Amino acid sequence: MRAEDVRTIGVVGAGTMGQQIALLGALHGFTVGVHDAIGEALKKAEAWAHTYLDGRVDKGRLTRAEADAALGRLTFASDLAGAVGQADLVIEAIVEKLEAKRDLFAQLDRLTPPHALLATNSSTIVSSRLMDVTSRPEKVLNLHFFNPPLVMELVEVCRNAKTTDETVAVAMGTCRRLGKSPILLKREIFGFVVNRLLWAVGNEAMSLVEQGIATPEEIDTAMVKGARYPIGPFALMDMNGIDVGYLVRMERYRESGNEADRPPRIMVEKYEKGEWGRKTGKGWYDHSTQGAEGRKP
Ligand SMILES: NC(=O)c1ccc[n+]([C@@H]2O[C@H](COP(=O)([O-])OP(=O)(O)OC[C@H]3O[C@@H](n4cnc5c(N)ncnc54)[C@H](O)[C@@H]3O)[C@@H](O)[C@H]2O)c1
Repeated sequence: MRAEDVRTIGVVGAGTMGQQIALLGALHGFTVGVHDAIGEALKKAEAWAHTYLDGRVDKGRLTRAEADAALGRLTFASDLAGAVGQADLVIEAIVEKLEAKRDLFAQLDRLTPPHALLATNSSTIVSSRLMDVTSRPEKVLNLHFFNPPLVMELVEVCRNAKTTDETVAVAMGTCRRLGKSPILLKREIFGFVVNRLLWAVGNEAMSLVEQGIATPEEIDTAMVKGARYPIGPFALMDMNGIDVGYLVRMERYRESGNEADRPPRIMVEKYEKGEWGRKTGKGWYDHSTQGAEGRKP
């Protein structure tokens, strides 16, 4: 198969990532089947797609005909087979739990055409931990989109030891057809590229606070004004959730056993106090007086 031969994409998991990846595919001319284990989540994703497209039409970014054509290419299926049975490529975007993903990949192997690529959008689970439940490890890989997938241009494509060059070429080419700029990771590493670099900056930022060198506000100002970051590391942690940052560092520490990978002390304190950022009204910043969205970076 070549990238040009990919016509149908299956998306499993219709949450934050899946609903946008599905719509992205439909907007770029692919036929897309979406499935979620929770009927309510599927309904919400469908309603969101309509609202999003209506908004684009209202703003003059899409014609009504283009929006309707995208909706016409999108199917929300309550059964997994209905979403992936014809797929050339499946993108899995379900809960970040290894056993759930392994169980799903085994099902995908049974339900999809033999030529289909099976990709995971996981942020932390590399595809070599999923490939052995399938009969096609050479067609299994990570396609790591960024949130929000309709906006963020990067996809990290990560091959495992068995992924073939053909699979990589199809995946890279399909990402380009989705309007993305993919980068290829030649072998697996926890956190891929972007998150590893963000963690490094975040950890150093927290270390500077722990040492009493500067406050979170000062460090954010420094990185925005001095390094042209669009958002400082503390504002970013508040936006993404300090709980998420903590849990992912704990996972990295569990995998590596390296003490240096443990979350910094002040992050552990924030996690344990339930001060997780915008979602709880308080993190490194106080978001309580500024509505659900909290302090804009
Ligand atoms: N949120 C992010 O910023 C982000 C960024 C990049 C990658 N990711 C990765 O994307 C994946 C999804 O993350 P998300 O933030 O969209 O999660 P989410 O919780 O918003 O959505 C997950 C959806 O999957 C559904 N689901 C769970 N188990 C399922 C199953 N067995 N079959 C079908 N559907 C199932 C849930 O009902 C839910 O609707 C994760 O692997 C995560 O690591 C997330």
